[in-house]
Amino acid sequence: MHAWERGLATFGPMRILITAGPTREPLDAIRLLTNRSSGQLGIAVASEAIKRGHDTTLLLGRGAHSPPSTIEACCRRFDSTNDLQSLLDETFPAADLLIMAAAVADFIPEQAPGGTKMSRHDGPVQLTLHPAPDLVATIADRKRPEQTVVGFALEPGATLTKRAIEKLSRKGLDAIVANPLDTMESSHITASLIWANGKIDTAADDLSKEAFAAWLLDRLAPAP
Ligand code: C5P
Repeated sequence: MHAWERGLATFGPMRILITAGPTREPLDAIRLLTNRSSGQLGIAVASEAIKRGHDTTLLLGRGAHSPPSTIEACCRRFDSTNDLQSLLDETFPAADLLIMAAAVADFIPEQAPGGTKMSRHDGPVQLTLHPAPDLVATIADRKRPEQTVVGFALEPGATLTKRAIEKLSRKGLDAIVANPLDTMESSHITASLIWANGKIDTAADDLSKEAFAAWLLDRLAPAP
């Protein structure tokens, strides 16, 4: 039985692990390769999970918005994909539910040798980018049957549902939140939750991220 089914059945507190915000990969001693994720949705989900009495941990990228003081105590910060992987290795075994909202790098750059700073005077610089490990796919592959892993798919609206279903299946997830590209940096979201059994729950359009967090947790982890 999945943790969310247990939660629905017993209304007991769950151990919920949430990741949010961007990874930052060093290019040289001072520069970073990162993305525009603000972490707002993950912060909203963590706040709502705490409000509902769940044992909550938020892994939050350093480039994200600052967490409100109410969730600081459950928050651990990461920089690179490698940092996030280490934190997940440490915290996932004790989690009933992972909500993987972090915008993890798809590519990790080869760094300038010896931690030096690239100079403009060296002329054009070519970056070599290596594919990053897929953290959520690795976790889903080794999770225990009672653990639930939920990923996110951020895609252009026209291909969103199709691409989200592909990702859900390729990464071996229990469910995936499908949301269009303009969710990034916005305070609102129009999204649906697609389950591995093919069921699709669609939230009302253009919810605040706080309202969407409550909608999502109603489905994944109702109040104890
Ligand atoms: O592959 P894509 O980035 O589109 O998939 C998004 C989902 O996969 C998110 O849940 C994200 O946290 C996760 N992901 C990951 N490791 C990566 C890239 C994405 O866990 N290297």
